[in-house]
Amino acid sequence: MHVFVAGATGAVGGLLVPLLIDSGHQVTGMTRTETGLGRLRAQGATPIQVDAFDADGLRNALASAAPDAVIHQLTALAAGSSADNGQIRREGTRNLVDAAKNAGVKRIIAQSVAWAYEPGAGPADETAQLDHTDPARATLVGGVHALEEAVAELQEHVVLRYGTFYGPRTWYSPDGLVADKLAGRLPAESPAAKLLGGLRADDAVTSFVHVADAARAAVDALDWPSGVVNIVDDEPAPGRDWLPVLADALAVPVPPAEASGARWQRGARNTRARSLGWQPRYPTWRTGFPAMSS
Ligand SMILES: NC(=O)c1ccc[n+]([C@@H]2O[C@H](COP(=O)([O-])OP(=O)(O)OC[C@H]3O[C@@H](n4cnc5c(N)ncnc54)[C@H](OP(=O)(O)O)[C@@H]3O)[C@@H](O)[C@H]2O)c1
Repeated sequence: MHVFVAGATGAVGGLLVPLLIDSGHQVTGMTRTETGLGRLRAQGATPIQVDAFDADGLRNALASAAPDAVIHQLTALAAGSSADNGQIRREGTRNLVDAAKNAGVKRIIAQSVAWAYEPGAGPADETAQLDHTDPARATLVGGVHALEEAVAELQEHVVLRYGTFYGPRTWYSPDGLVADKLAGRLPAESPAAKLLGGLRADDAVTSFVHVADAARAAVDALDWPSGVVNIVDDEPAPGRDWLPVLADALAVPVPPAEASGARWQRGARNTRARSLGWQPRYPTWRTGFPAMSS
């Protein structure tokens, strides 16, 4: 299959491109930068330089590539801004979907998140609604909703609701933002520190996924039926359980335990992904976190 990857140089995209090529697919990878072009070429992809906010450029890129499928892994979190990320979810996805339709592409796989669900008891499966009740979450949930609605305009569409990424080039890597925050190296007023505000050894439940398993899911999803699928590990867990394991793996101090956590911080279930055949290499953060530093 010829696959057009938007976000081909990001934390997931960088692992996804070689996986696609190893699986026998032809890849066109999109980037804004000269560095990205060189990197994609070295990975064996055909690189294309275009900005997701350039609707005409994107339309031309998709029309000339004429892929069988699009994989959307665009995010804009490098500067730690949820507003930037909301904009790429809304406008970038709109442009990408329009360009894909114009090029006659029938199938799209897109990156979403597994923590935009409404509050509830226990980890959420895909039947839970998105949380439109909390104004404090409007940027996140609104962006996710816009992205998921837009990709559903293509005939075949799989939305991957990923858990929190860890592994190489993520915030949770040994040289990432989380290690800096836990070690007290991140200025409290920085946008990244604010985004990581919920990093507590508390009752808030998080579902994680290693980026390599996230990339594998995007390859697998080329064969999945349309719909939403949580891509999370087997063990949603409260911060009081996972944060000490992470701190140990990152060689930083363990924050003190606290009693806090909102009802939307519930994690997610991967029953559907498992039934579709997705097999994570790291089924739990208990083995995945220590593997980052080995
Ligand atoms: N589920 C999660 O936990 C989750 C999800 C997403 C991100 N994150 C965190 O965010 C951090 C950054 O992630 P990342 O490396 O994926 O993000 P990133 O560095 O912001 O880039 C993501 C990808 O999107 C592309 N991109 C961004 N804006 C674009 C635009 N306007 N036009 C075209 N392409 C654009 C980038 O391409 P070029 O720069 O090559 O143009 C890159 O390939 C990670 O370390 C991760 O921990 C977490």
